[in-house]
Amino acid sequence: MSIHISAPAGSIARTVLLPGDPLRAKYMAERFLQNSQLVSQTRNIFYYTGTYKDKPITIGASGMGCPSIGIYSYELYTEYDVDNIIRIGTCGAYSTDLKLFDLVNVDEAASESSFARYAWGIKDECIRHQGKAFKHIKKTARKMNMSLLNRNVHSSDIFYRKSKKIPKVAEAYECVAVEMEAFALFANAEHLEKTAACLLTVSDIIPTHEKISADEREKSLLPMMELALEAALRM
Ligand code: HPA
Repeated sequence: MSIHISAPAGSIARTVLLPGDPLRAKYMAERFLQNSQLVSQTRNIFYYTGTYKDKPITIGASGMGCPSIGIYSYELYTEYDVDNIIRIGTCGAYSTDLKLFDLVNVDEAASESSFARYAWGIKDECIRHQGKAFKHIKKTARKMNMSLLNRNVHSSDIFYRKSKKIPKVAEAYECVAVEMEAFALFANAEHLEKTAACLLTVSDIIPTHEKISADEREKSLLPMMELALEAALRM
């Protein structure tokens, strides 16, 4: 048990897939895991542990934003001996170079967030994925014949803002898209010397306002989920 996760000791696997949304964690666990058990539901943030092709895997939610994923990933790494976390989420593309449904394997996450600096004294505005998960995802995608873009993204604390311009930090680090969590996950993993990766599906194109519709959303995320699970078998 940790402050925000009520799972008993030993009931979380060493590899955890972390979507933002608790209902997405539930959907994935029901669809992909064998013998899955709900091991925590504190604050309605669900964690399920089961097996995927005989490998123990936990799928749970991170919530939205750096503060939330900062809490869950820290407790998973430090109180449950988790080694590998793969965030799976959606992102908004900053240009039409990306298309809806494109898959991004995050190389580095840049942010204006003070999280890394104030939590761990990490002064960088841009933090790389940690450990070998990124490479495993890359290799797995090749084997599955899936196209995957290895790119930098912007982890923003802000979803709604006045200016339509691409934020400076995103331009400075050539971020092709925006999401809200990878930076804090990578910062925790760097500090704790753990493994962290982030896989994203492009759900909206910011300049054109194109979006994956609510109906398409569930199905459109399946390739990313399968890629993350298959990559997890290598960890
Ligand atoms: N901003 C932040 N996070 C996101 C977005 C966005 O436009 N789209 C999907 N996740």
